[in-house]
Amino acid sequence: MSEQHGSAIAAYWDAAAAAFDEEPDHGLRAEPVRAAWARRLAEWVPGTGAEVLDAGCGTGSLAVLLAGAGHRVTGVDLSPRMVAAARGKALRAGVVAEFAVGAAEEPPTGGQRFDVVLARHLLWTLPDPVAALRQWVIRLRPGGRLVLVEGRWRQTGGAEPYAAGPDTLPWHGGVGAAELAAAVGPLAREVRVESLAGDPELWGGPVDDERYVLLARARGPAA
Ligand SMILES: C[S@@+](CC[C@H](N)C(=O)[O-])C[C@H]1O[C@@H](n2cnc3c(N)ncnc32)[C@H](O)[C@@H]1O
Repeated sequence: MSEQHGSAIAAYWDAAAAAFDEEPDHGLRAEPVRAAWARRLAEWVPGTGAEVLDAGCGTGSLAVLLAGAGHRVTGVDLSPRMVAAARGKALRAGVVAEFAVGAAEEPPTGGQRFDVVLARHLLWTLPDPVAALRQWVIRLRPGGRLVLVEGRWRQTGGAEPYAAGPDTLPWHGGVGAAELAAAVGPLAREVRVESLAGDPELWGGPVDDERYVLLARARGPAA
């Protein structure tokens, strides 16, 4: 990602940060929505004590849920205001989680290896999403898990044009499960997709577009 491109995207999300949590599935402010995500995360990241990288963590809603469940979470986001919001949310929730400003494609986490790399609603905004997938798999321990919450949305935003412009983003508007599975297949094993469209509690109401989680394991022995 070029520096100019990165700063345009960071500026877009900096401007969006204050209102981001107003969407039910962003802020998880309603208890049924929060509980629905907590249940799903407990299925995807079972137990406690997993080292989790939340790539493109936004305001940290999922990172805070995972930290509250006893995992060691590092959230990375390009937008300083998103990261500030995530830090504030963790503090208010009384949980410990690390947050850093940086590119999800090259997370500033040094040589650290993770049990789980989670990304929700991020791939659509990456100029080279497959390169990012490769980097995430490299950062997984053998048998570690990729948890990609993605979709293909009917509406790609409001009146404001997206900072980078659709031309530069191969998955602008989202990526279908079949296409993502084809991209992850050569990089990982046990690729599995679960639809999330039929669970209105996750979204704060019914949805009629494609939403799913893709789960896969890094090659090597099971974690
Ligand atoms: C739709 S939001 C999703 C936030 C969060 N994952 C969630 O589900 O609530 C997309 C997030 O990705 C971040 N982002 C966009 N491009 C990024 C990049 N290249 N590296 C890291 N974060 C990025 C934005 O700043 C924004 O916080």
